[in-house]
Amino acid sequence: MIFILIGPPGAGKGTHSDALLRDFPCTKIATGDILRRHIKEGSSVGRRCEEIIGQGRLVDDATLWELLEPELTKLKDKAVILDGYPRNLAQATQLQEVVASNPIRAVVYIEADDNTLMERLCGRMLCPNCQSIYHRKTRVPRQAGLCDNCQAPLVVRPDDELEKVRTRLDIYAAETHPVVNYYQGLGLLKAVDGSQGIAAVYEQIKVMFRTKMV
Ligand code: AP5
Ligand code: MG
Repeated sequence: MIFILIGPPGAGKGTHSDALLRDFPCTKIATGDILRRHIKEGSSVGRRCEEIIGQGRLVDDATLWELLEPELTKLKDKAVILDGYPRNLAQATQLQEVVASNPIRAVVYIEADDNTLMERLCGRMLCPNCQSIYHRKTRVPRQAGLCDNCQAPLVVRPDDELEKVRTRLDIYAAETHPVVNYYQGLGLLKAVDGSQGIAAVYEQIKVMFRTKMV
């Protein structure tokens, strides 16, 4: 079964999907993490996508499908959380092609307003090694600038610069928000209020997840 976490940049998709992995027997596919790994390794996909991602624009659908499809096939009997896919209606339609073998159980839509999202993204720090997510104010690492899990020095994502964040929010509104309506039409959408603190938002997601896992 597939669970999709959808929402604007900074809504908390990565934060909450990591927490779900700790609480439920499931696996996560985060397309942003996969792409950043390719960039770090300097693969041909990484070299092709680095500039696009750095500018806050979307990578082309064919590349995304090329990365995602083998993962979905490999995990077809498992509970899978998708973080960052689909990002437009073409990707949502493409995903429908595989759902016969692994149906979409729920689409969790995390909502938050633009000011909240800006504040979150502009304070985010990321571990480039294990992808753990931190924030200067709301999720502070135990040792300043170092990952709690693997002690790697934390970095700021190049696409978290103010101008890039604006671009990403615009692209989200134009390309990704229609996907929310698409899943609402299919009766799969579960909206959660993402404007509260991390623990309160996660509690809503966890309750929903528990009812849908059985
Ligand atoms: P991706 O990595 O998926 O980025 P995104 O969708 O823009 O989302 P973010 O990762 O920025 O936010 P999030 O919702 O995960 O928030 P987080 O939990 O980190 O994609 C990056 C790029 O890759 C795209 O721009 C595109 O170029 C490319 N790409 C990826 N998938 C693609 C696709 N399918 N098609 C085409 N291109 C694709 O939280 C953010 C911060 O807020 C953290 O600091 C966190 O600690 C904090 N925080 C979270 N929740 C709360 C809360 N409730 N209260 C207080 N602080 C909070
Ligand atoms: Mg993320």
